Amino acid sequence: MLDTGSPYGLIENGILALEGGKISWVGAGTELPPEYSSWAVEDLGGRLVTPGLIDCHTHVVFGGDRAREFEMRLEGASYEEVAKAGGGIISTVKATRTASEDELLAEALTRVDALIAEGVTALEIKSGYGLDVETELRMLRTARKIGEVRPVLVRTSFLGAHAIPPEYKGRADAYLDEVCLPALAAAHDEGLVDAVDGFCEGIAFTPDQIARVFEKAKELGLPVKLHAEQLSNLGGTALAASYGALSADHLEYLDEAGVSALKESGSVAVLLPGAFYTLRETQLPPLDLLRRYKVAVALATDCNPGSSPLASLLLTMNVGCTLFRMTPEEALAGVTREAAKALDLGDRGTLEACNCADLAIWNVRHPAELSYRIGFNALEKRLFGGLE
Ligand code: NIG
Ligand code: FE
Repeated sequence: MLDTGSPYGLIENGILALEGGKISWVGAGTELPPEYSSWAVEDLGGRLVTPGLIDCHTHVVFGGDRAREFEMRLEGASYEEVAKAGGGIISTVKATRTASEDELLAEALTRVDALIAEGVTALEIKSGYGLDVETELRMLRTARKIGEVRPVLVRTSFLGAHAIPPEYKGRADAYLDEVCLPALAAAHDEGLVDAVDGFCEGIAFTPDQIARVFEKAKELGLPVKLHAEQLSNLGGTALAASYGALSADHLEYLDEAGVSALKESGSVAVLLPGAFYTLRETQLPPLDLLRRYKVAVALATDCNPGSSPLASLLLTMNVGCTLFRMTPEEALAGVTREAAKALDLGDRGTLEACNCADLAIWNVRHPAELSYRIGFNALEKRLFGGLE
């Protein structure tokens, strides 16, 4: 994962020198500077070392489950029909509002532990299933707690503009004024918000409404990102790009103007193959255009109870390759280097001197195996800040 010119940035017979939770040197074993020659050595037996994996888009904190909705969709109902019938995001909102912080934490940890077991060392966690001030704050506190009780870096995103709660049906702007924007300010005051997200879609918020949320984010000095162009093209990506978004996510319906806007702003395109697969979408994200414009492309689980009940970043890589036709090299970069950019983690995602010693060590012969195998975890061990 270095820019060595070789595929995957691979260094054969490489050495990493670690000190104080950081990488102090990395390179070919034959080039190790003499000052390291007396250091204790751990022989990894020729195993592959990658940066710790980064899941840059998750909704792992929520109450309840949506197994019944899965059945409904198999019986023929669409995601939008389920949402309109009061299911979908709103049914998770009801379950999340009645869950205590301890309950939310215990359930989220089952999903986070599954991610960690596959080498994840950093993840993003969104609010957005509370849609009232108190529950949005409880979700974000739970997310912060996860970073305290597990060896993993957590970045939080405020997603108050995720859906319109039943008590504000048909009054989206009043919901923004009375709940979403005050909740954002309160969460920011408590130090609970690293970025601000929204859902720009026919079943959620219009670009104008999202712009109101982004204006508040700007006022608070917070970066933005957006669920955009998932089920239709409303121009959310260009809007997010105009606010210098960290990322625009989903993007199945993105057009060339949107791709060009991402290139201009330097925002990352985050593809979410778990949602595409679960919803049995047929509209593919414009990967060739993203490549042509050299937009950074990340991959994430979108782990959530409805559209992507997926807690495996390795499976995400496989689906990204098989359904989106990403190369295994793009998939690995998508869950390391590009995912780090999407979370603005300047010292993670690549194996470089001064970066955090967040590493994943794999029992594979070739890096493509990480994407190629299905339902197989080749992780030998994981280091977080240099520690097992
Ligand atoms: O990222 N697209 C909107 N939000 C989530 C879905 C959440 C849900 O269905 O509960 C997503 O796919
Ligand atoms: Fe999402």
